[in-house]
Amino acid sequence: MCGIVGYLGTQAATGILISGLERLEYRGYDSAGVATVWEGKIHSVRAKGKLYKLREKLEGQDTPATIGIGHTRWATHGKPEEHNAHPHLDMSQRIAVVQNGIIENYRELREELKGKGYEFLSKTDTEVIPHLISDILQETKAGDEPFLEAVRLTIARLEGAFAIAVVCADYPDELITARQQAPLTLGFGQGEFFCASDITALIPHTRAILTLENGEMARMTPLGMEIYNFAGDRLKKTPRTLDWNPVSVEKQGFRHYMLKEIYEQPAVVRTNIEAYVTDTEHPINLSINPPEFLDGIEHIQILACGTSWHASLVGKYLLEQLAGIPTFVYYASEFRYSPSPMMPNTLTIGVTQSGETADTIAALEMEKERRSHKEEKFKARLLGITNRSESTITHLVDQVMYTHAGIEIGVAATKTFEAQLMSFYFLALELAARRKTLSDETIHQILAGLKQIPTQIESILEDQEKDIEDLAHAFVDTQDFIFIGRGINFPIALEGALKLKEISYIHAEGYPAGEMKHGPIALLDVKVPVVAIAMPGAIYEKVISNAQEAKARDALLIGVAAIDDREAEHTFDKILPVAAVDELLSPLLTVIPLQLLSYHIAARRGLDVDQPRNLAKSVTVE
Ligand code: AGP
Repeated sequence: MCGIVGYLGTQAATGILISGLERLEYRGYDSAGVATVWEGKIHSVRAKGKLYKLREKLEGQDTPATIGIGHTRWATHGKPEEHNAHPHLDMSQRIAVVQNGIIENYRELREELKGKGYEFLSKTDTEVIPHLISDILQETKAGDEPFLEAVRLTIARLEGAFAIAVVCADYPDELITARQQAPLTLGFGQGEFFCASDITALIPHTRAILTLENGEMARMTPLGMEIYNFAGDRLKKTPRTLDWNPVSVEKQGFRHYMLKEIYEQPAVVRTNIEAYVTDTEHPINLSINPPEFLDGIEHIQILACGTSWHASLVGKYLLEQLAGIPTFVYYASEFRYSPSPMMPNTLTIGVTQSGETADTIAALEMEKERRSHKEEKFKARLLGITNRSESTITHLVDQVMYTHAGIEIGVAATKTFEAQLMSFYFLALELAARRKTLSDETIHQILAGLKQIPTQIESILEDQEKDIEDLAHAFVDTQDFIFIGRGINFPIALEGALKLKEISYIHAEGYPAGEMKHGPIALLDVKVPVVAIAMPGAIYEKVISNAQEAKARDALLIGVAAIDDREAEHTFDKILPVAAVDELLSPLLTVIPLQLLSYHIAARRGLDVDQPRNLAKSVTVE
């Protein structure tokens, strides 16, 4: 979603802001802008569309300013037009503001400001901020720190989840930034300071970073960075050193980040095995402290969105089948406003690769709050499964499992999904070991199977990518797809359909294979391909029968099936083969050809695979 970059230092700010915004492009946006302070004036340039449009407008207009703010906007209030793009300025054009998130009480503030004669040029919620700062500055000029104080008093009037960065032509050596439930990280260079919505924008410049907490603001000046809380108290905080390798955010020769990230999955699975599997008598170490946190759990509820919700459905299967714990998976956005009745001794798991998804964060906060008034056995026990340390979820939950996938730039989640699945395998096995629902021997067998997964993924990538690329040619004009699966592979059918619609804009539906005859079968004809996941196991024959039903309606049948499965060879028009693993482990493999299929269909259609239209990597509004 929206991305913020701010710079104060000795280099020309515009170039740094633009390259920072480029590194935030993956978050999703539809307009962009920058504002710098130079020769006592704000220089603001905005453009609808992608960053190259902004770059074109900046040609010849660039200033040598060494302070500025930049923004990529994902439209919420007001269409993606230039007049709604950030930065937004006050009427005297002395103050410029960029904002991420939503100001919920902007309508009241707007009316109040209009009553005082302020004119609005956009439909955004953001525009109230520069007017409010300007209004307060006019009244409090006498204060010691007028600009800082005016921003602080403005923030006190804002409701919602937001991060902002502000510059003012009257205070040309100050950049002020603040965070309230929207991500913002500060960077410390040699005589220069940065802020950004994501570390990716800071990596080329510095490894010394500090994540602002909710309710904190920072003032950058040439003399240093000062941190305050919203009450105005100065805070003492020390930056930490980031151990990221800048190369990890490059494409490394791949045509798209998504393809690179699909290829990184064997390494991601290996890293997770190294992180969570031990050679000791107790083979899994989740690093949950205190370990009793996982004792006495009677129910599990999982809150997530999108692909993370699909991973959670696989998780439910594992937690119920391996550890015998009744598990309920909810869309976070639904749970937030219609929560289930409270059950005692419940583990609540929030799953989010970004750690910032507003729906998931809000649902977890609600759950924590409503349980805080209850007796001990109803108190919230919160576990977060995330790929981003320092993200909002890590501050909210009691325990965290990191998914160790490395930064994912492609908007379509691939390697982080695989990594989330790994977390659920480890969690389910750990709970099974504690509750003795599986023997040690079975746990070791499953772990041995997990250790084979990286090479099995490598085989799919090596042997099949070319075939899948060729197959994708047939679907350039296809308008509808159906994906079917059962049991533990039903969520993979959902994920296959989501991947395809996200990046190729082809309408796709995922169904439990047995449900097709209860309605969706009416959609089938020669123009609607059906992809069936048919791995050996308890419901294999049933899936094959469901696939036959589709074939009888002339649908082109593609099967994700085990290598050398003769029955599948007779059933399907085209097979995407994977190793014949135990059904329990199969989602880790069956999702791979589906990721490749959607990637190649989208690439073949010439679409922007890494930044599909209307989508954001990190969805920070509810
Ligand atoms: C996945 O391909 C999508 N981009 C989207 O559904 C995503 O999974 C969802 O927005 C949740 O994101 P999160 O995991 O960061 O919470």
